[in-house]
Amino acid sequence: MSKYKIAWMPGDGIGNDVMEAAKIVLDAMNFDAEYVPADIGWEFWCSEGDALPQRTLDILSGVDAALFGAITSKPKEEAQAELAPELQDKGLVYASPIVRLRQHFNLRTNLRPCKAYAGNPLNFRDDLDLVVFRENTEDLYVGVEYHPVPESLNEELKKHPRWARFADTPLEDMAISLRVNTRAGCRNIITDAFEYAKKHGYKTVTVVEKPNVVRETSGLMVRTAREVAQNYPGIDLWETNIDAMAMWLVKNPQNYGVLVATNLFGDIVSDLCAQLVGGLGFASSGNIGDDLAVFEPTHGSAPKYAGQYKTNPTAMLLTVKLMLDWLGEGEAAIRLEQAVAKTIAAGEVRTYDMGGTSTTLELAEAVAANLGD
Ligand code: NAI
Ligand code: MG
Repeated sequence: MSKYKIAWMPGDGIGNDVMEAAKIVLDAMNFDAEYVPADIGWEFWCSEGDALPQRTLDILSGVDAALFGAITSKPKEEAQAELAPELQDKGLVYASPIVRLRQHFNLRTNLRPCKAYAGNPLNFRDDLDLVVFRENTEDLYVGVEYHPVPESLNEELKKHPRWARFADTPLEDMAISLRVNTRAGCRNIITDAFEYAKKHGYKTVTVVEKPNVVRETSGLMVRTAREVAQNYPGIDLWETNIDAMAMWLVKNPQNYGVLVATNLFGDIVSDLCAQLVGGLGFASSGNIGDDLAVFEPTHGSAPKYAGQYKTNPTAMLLTVKLMLDWLGEGEAAIRLEQAVAKTIAAGEVRTYDMGGTSTTLELAEAVAANLGD
């Protein structure tokens, strides 16, 4: 029997390309795992009306971890139009399978390291080592949204003094998306950020919010960060606003280490951080819960490159590294990261984003060859 059981979810688009690259490297490492294929993505929405079928949830309940490539998501009208004809009038509503996965398994922590590897021509600077902790299940992603606004909700909102300015707006001309954050959600993500900082020797944790304007939700996050920080005397808590942070990250990114934010702000700031170290081809992530963790590159399905083996598998390979870390395979994780770093530094095998002409699988083969003994 294999040591680990890993759910294998390529998804669609370039998810397939980069997962094939991951397999090359895992096999080269003799990683002792059974891979269980699991369906997720656009084709299952179109053919069965569910991008995350129940059978996939069942598989995920019985594995040690999951590796996931990427999926395509489309806006409401397009999703409806592409549904198989026999499913058209069943009232099915598309919901992002990734958001559903995160909520179903309470994968509450999104970990997104952004490190500059020497020799990457796409680095904004070479001395960057940022790690973003993004809260993964709450905030504007809870999916409680209204359009049109129901009369009963409007009645309640009328009691709020600031609501008067909408008194003349027809309810069908208004949309509301609720931002919901809990004390426990804030405390968990902030604690994870501080624990990581402590374990890996970072001197600061920066909470990225907007409490001066979004007083209750961002306020809760910042107030909670101040409380949690008390438990970590050697680590400074820095507080910045999301807008200013966008500016600081372009001006002085080397000054920062661990960043922590609520879901949407964390999403935005992590893409900015990813671009500082080479873009989506280098950005790895883990969705981590107490019982399950799902690892995926930050990028999407890049449909225009699907099946062409052109895109950079580095993000996926660094994602495998995160999975190995989480499984407690620290030595294997270091070995893989060193092989990735060596391949980037050598600069001989580069995909198009790095100015080269190598394929996705050639880059994976080069990393495999650099694994050493
Ligand atoms: P995307 O990340 O798929 O691609 C944007 C662009 O980034 C690509 O056209 C390509 O130029 C570049 N890129 C992405 N991955 C790369 C890689 N590994 N190597 C080199 N270059 C790379 O984002 P986009 O175009 O906004 O979305 C495409 C689809 O993916 C949409 O349906 C979207 O909903 C979905 N998506 C899925 C995600 C996921 O599976 N976690 C995350 C983000 C988007
Ligand atoms: Mg994103």
